[in-house]
Amino acid sequence: MASAYSLAWDVSLRDRNTFHLDARAHCLATVHDAMALPSLLADPALQNLPLMVLGAGSNVLFATDRFEGCLIHLQCDSARIVDHDGEHALVHVDAGFEWDALVDWTLDHGLQGLENLALIPGQAGAAPIQNIGAYGVEVGKFIEAVHVYDCQTAAVDRLTAARCGFGYRDSVFKREPDRRIVTAIELQLPKAGATNVSYAGLNEELAAMGGLNPTPRNVAAAVRRIRRRKLPDPAVAGNAGSFFKNPIISSAVAVELQSRFEGMPVFPASTAAERKLSAAWLIEQAGWRGLRDGDAAVSAQHALVLVNLGQATGAQLLALARRVAASVQEKFGVALEPEPRIVGATFQGERAG
Ligand code: EPU
Repeated sequence: MASAYSLAWDVSLRDRNTFHLDARAHCLATVHDAMALPSLLADPALQNLPLMVLGAGSNVLFATDRFEGCLIHLQCDSARIVDHDGEHALVHVDAGFEWDALVDWTLDHGLQGLENLALIPGQAGAAPIQNIGAYGVEVGKFIEAVHVYDCQTAAVDRLTAARCGFGYRDSVFKREPDRRIVTAIELQLPKAGATNVSYAGLNEELAAMGGLNPTPRNVAAAVRRIRRRKLPDPAVAGNAGSFFKNPIISSAVAVELQSRFEGMPVFPASTAAERKLSAAWLIEQAGWRGLRDGDAAVSAQHALVLVNLGQATGAQLLALARRVAASVQEKFGVALEPEPRIVGATFQGERAG
């Protein structure tokens, strides 16, 4: 029988991160069966090495040319319905299942809910980590439980949604990044019901597609069209989607800013005392849209996306991101927080340990 994991040394990461940064990793462990994680972690070759899970590399910035540890890549990718009643089905998905393929898999099985999250790059196991969200929907709403290997307790665990601490682009997995390895997720998905077309552009897109009804499949198709038009394609210009989170600020500060900056978009946040600002708008107003520093650039297509136009390094992209944040801070007094995981440095500047 083939081993349940394999190790490779001094591995190029160029095709393993969507920024297409030319970084290398000391070691890459490819895991074919999550049951093998305890023996992988006990492997003598890995002792004392920093460990980090790398999925599709679509939400990570390698700030240095080398990761001097072991990256763990889960390749297990089956999905199955484990329970259902008249209204819902419970789907168990291995961490390595590609997210957008999963959206289609659920639609093919007559399930809905994930259609607004179509075309988000990455693996299913990464979805709960930053509680992926788009077009009015966050995945946390459908997550029943997340299966993990807990490196702190050296045991498997099943965290029900209440223990996952989901927030806007946030979860316990993001707050304690090296503690748990997500091995599978359980999604509770409806078989019928109204789709969510609350996001302003969705109804317009369905209308432009010939006045289509908002069925789950049509919503997925509309979301794919919007994303293809609005967001730069990582195959053309390396990127990790939104580079910053939309800032959450107090309602009082939002009112004050709106009176000073005409046309500033302000959105509801999860509590009445807070509001969400558009980081893209702030960055564009600060004059950064389309600006480049060598091959590191703020996308001309969408100001929230940093792009590698060819040979940019992670350090150059990080330096650009810091300049963007500093200028937004200066103009608006609002702090921008990066969305992707930054490896080998911290956003504030001091070298990570
Ligand atoms: N805008 C600008 N300049 C731009 C682009 C947008 O001023 O270059 C303004 C517009 O006023 C627009 C507003 O920003 O109305 C919001 O733009 P958009 O609808 O594109 O959404 P976003 O807030 O920039 C968020 C997510 C995206 C997600 C979209 C759609 C975050 C950090 N980003 O972007 O997620 O696809 O909403 O729901 O929450 C990602 O996380 O990687 C990602 C792409």
